Amino acid sequence: MAGGVSGPELAAAVSEAGGLGFLAAGYKTADGVYQEIKRLRSLTDRPFGVNVFMPQPEYAESGAVEVYAHQLAGEAAWYETELGDPDSGRDDGYDAKLAVLLDDPVPVVSFHFGVPSREALERLRRAGTFTLVTATTAEEAVAVERAGADAVIAQGVEAGGHQGTHRDVPENDGTGLGLLSLITQIREAVHIPVVAAGGIMRGAQIAAVLAAGASAAQLGTAFLATPESGAPAVHKEALTNPLFVRTELTRAFTGRPARGLVNRFLREHGPYAPPAYPEINHLTSPLRKAAAKAGDAQGMALWAGQGHRLARDLPAGQLVEVLAAELAEARAAFADGGAR
Ligand SMILES: Cc1cc2nc3c(=O)[nH]c(=O)nc-3n(C[C@H](O)[C@H](O)[C@H](O)COP(=O)(O)O)c2cc1C
Repeated sequence: MAGGVSGPELAAAVSEAGGLGFLAAGYKTADGVYQEIKRLRSLTDRPFGVNVFMPQPEYAESGAVEVYAHQLAGEAAWYETELGDPDSGRDDGYDAKLAVLLDDPVPVVSFHFGVPSREALERLRRAGTFTLVTATTAEEAVAVERAGADAVIAQGVEAGGHQGTHRDVPENDGTGLGLLSLITQIREAVHIPVVAAGGIMRGAQIAAVLAAGASAAQLGTAFLATPESGAPAVHKEALTNPLFVRTELTRAFTGRPARGLVNRFLREHGPYAPPAYPEINHLTSPLRKAAAKAGDAQGMALWAGQGHRLARDLPAGQLVEVLAAELAEARAAFADGGAR
């Protein structure tokens, strides 16, 4: 979870408890990632993963970003800040991050927003790294398998944060596949293992996705509320605050569909935000920072999956243990022939 959420403390706590903790490399510099890997290694000897964003192709439609900037002028005035420079880079330091990961290999690397080249995946494999790539459709999963990744992450539409869709098109309007349908379609399209992600908050749901053919489950929102997560306190509180009743996929904050709690900013700007990632991400960054600084939940990107109300404020290691116990209980109940 990029954006300051998944750092070494959270990843270490999860890995120490028997899960597979992940460091977010997204939005950080390559050197920042290197430093965080070093810190994580000082906190745990257990395996962990690093998540990398793919570079984005040029956004063709000229003018749309400028129009959106104009529509956000009132926000900038309200939060007493400038809008960010939409042209401050579109590759998220991909090559430099890959170089760090090849130079000093880590156990697992996952990719979001597209598929790395065969060559990159092969080099990681030769370095001893297990690779994963997110897919939101069976077609994307086939592309992941063809490129030579070791496993595919099936990300259902329930998932919090950005959909890892390989190529964003304007028709990506929130009609993505629910996790159970997606796991099954991907399982029947590829031979590599499938990791299930989206809306999973309890051990019984992990049992369900394993029963559906997934080899593992990936949880984001469940760990957002933990003390080790770097999410701002207002974000953590909002997850279970009855003021926020639902989530929606929106381009309002970054230009790519991402699921967050419905707040004022999302309601007002979501309907016309253009599909221009990462331009819109750069553009709105100062607004989101100013809103977070002011403790204003209505102006922040409150990323959350559909299961957000089930978030538990437990230390991350304890949460892994509770989930494992719930999983064991659910599996025993399945073996008994039904839920207790
Ligand atoms: C706050 C937040 C940040 C996220 N950032 C990333 C990211 O940097 N890279 C990534 O691959 N997925 C990211 N995701 C998506 C997760 O990988 C995963 O698909 C999602 O959390 C699963 O759904 P859940 O949140 O309902 O558990 C993020 C999710 C959240 C909630």
